[in-house]
Amino acid sequence: MSRLIVISNRVSVPKAAGAAGAQGGLAVALNSALREHRGIWFGWSGQETEEFNGHLNMQRIDDVTTATIDLEPQDIDEYYNGYANRTLWPLFHYRIDLTEYDRNFGEGYERVNARFADSVLPLIEPDDLVWVHDYHLLPLGSMLRQKGVKNRIGLFLHTPWPPARLLVSLPFHERLVGSMLEYDVIGFQTEEWLGSFLHYVEKEMGLSVNKDGTIDYDGRRIVARAFPIGIDYEEFVEGAESAEALEAYEHLKASVRGRKVMIGVDRLDYSKGLGERFESFGRFLGDYTDLASKVVLLQIAPPSRGDVASYQQIREDLERKTGHINGAHADVAFVPIRYVNRGYPRRQLAGFYRAADIGLVTPLRDGMNLVAKEYVAAQNPEYPGVLVLSQFAGAALQLTDALLVNPHSIEDVSEAIKRALDMPLAERRSRHEKLLASVRDEDVVFWRDEFVKALFGEGTSGTSPQKEVA
Ligand code: G6P
Repeated sequence: MSRLIVISNRVSVPKAAGAAGAQGGLAVALNSALREHRGIWFGWSGQETEEFNGHLNMQRIDDVTTATIDLEPQDIDEYYNGYANRTLWPLFHYRIDLTEYDRNFGEGYERVNARFADSVLPLIEPDDLVWVHDYHLLPLGSMLRQKGVKNRIGLFLHTPWPPARLLVSLPFHERLVGSMLEYDVIGFQTEEWLGSFLHYVEKEMGLSVNKDGTIDYDGRRIVARAFPIGIDYEEFVEGAESAEALEAYEHLKASVRGRKVMIGVDRLDYSKGLGERFESFGRFLGDYTDLASKVVLLQIAPPSRGDVASYQQIREDLERKTGHINGAHADVAFVPIRYVNRGYPRRQLAGFYRAADIGLVTPLRDGMNLVAKEYVAAQNPEYPGVLVLSQFAGAALQLTDALLVNPHSIEDVSEAIKRALDMPLAERRSRHEKLLASVRDEDVVFWRDEFVKALFGEGTSGTSPQKEVA
C-alpha cells in the first residue's frame, strides 16, 4: 500500500477541528487531505537554529506523522523572507514592482531546497507517492531525482503562475522552470495559470505540448493540469452548525444592532486588495450617505510575513486608510470599519460568515481563494448572504454566480456592494444554490483524489501501476 509524503514549507496540523489560526489555504486543505491517508508531512518547523544540523523532529497527531527541520537565520532570511516572499510571491502575483532580484536570495533558495531534499530522503520508501507544495519548493523534485529518488513526484502550486512576459524578468528563469520538468505531475489552481505555464514552456523552452496538455521531455511524459482546490465541505458545514459558531454569530449580530454586515477575512497581504477594498467601502459610504450608518465592514486580517518591507508598508497603509474612513464616517455610537489584526478559530469564523450579509473577497490576484468558498458554505440557504468576488481570484472561474467585480475599480466594487444590499431574496437564493453546488461538489476531497489519481499515473501513459492510496 502506498503512503503519501507531503512536503511543504510549513507544516501545520491543527489539534482539533475548531483550532485557531491564521492558516493559509494550503494548511487547511492539506490537513484534511492527510487525515485520510497514512501520511507523512514534512517541512520547516518555523523555528530557527543557530547552525543547521538536519535533525528531524517527528510527531504523530491523529493519523498524520509530521517531520520537521529547523533552519538557520540566514536560510530564513534568504529562502523564506528572500526568494520565496520578496521574489517569487510578488512576481507570481504580477507585482514586478515589488519583486526583488538578489543573487543571495537565489542561492539561499537552492541551499534550503537541497537541505529539504537531504532531510526528507531517509523517510521515502520505494512505493511512496511524493507530493510537493507551492512556490517555496519548485526545484525540490529535481534535487530528489539527483539523489536517486525514482518515485512518482508531483508538484501543486497554490499561487497563480505569471505570464511568460513577466516571468522572463526573473534571472535564471529557464533554470527554475527547467528543474520543474523533473516532476511527473505539475498541478495548477486554474486553466489560466496552466495556460501561462504551457505558453512559457513552448515559447521559452521550445518544447511542444501535446493536445491533452502533457509534455514529453527527456524520455518521460509530464502531466500539467488544473486541479482547483476546494474546502473540506463536510467539516466546514459541521463546524458552521456548532455551538461555537452559533455563539460567534449571535455575538456579532448583537454588536451591530441591526446594521448590515460585510465581512472580509484575509492574511494581511498586498495581493488581497485590502487597500482598494477599504477605499471602495469609503466611496460607498460617501455615495450613499443615507446608508452610511446602516452598514459595518468587519475586516479580519491576521498579519503575515512581517519581516518583509512590503508587508510592513501594507499594514501602515491600511491603518491610515481605516483611520481616515472611520474619522470621516463614524459617529458617537458607531464606526464603519472594524479592522482586526488577528486570526480566529475556524468555527468562530464560520459564525461570523453566517452573520454577514455580504462576503467581500476582492484580491487583485489570487491562486484560488478559499475564503470565498467558506463564505458560501457557511450561509443559511434560506436567507443567504451575497458573495462579491474579484474576477482575478482563481475561484471566480468556478463561482460564476457571485457578483464578479474588478477590484481595481473603486466604483465597480462600491456599486456591487449597493447591488448586493438591494438584491431580492429570490435572486440571493438562486445564486447561492448554484454557488453551494460548486463548493460542495468540487471540495478538497475531490481535489486530493484527482491529484493523487494523476500522481499514480491514471489516465496518462505514465508507467506506475494503478494502486489505491491508504
Ligand atoms: C499562501 C501560500 C502558502 C502559505 C500561506 C501562509 O496561502 O500559498 O504556501 O503557507 O500563504 O503564508 P506563510 O508565509 O505565513 O506561510
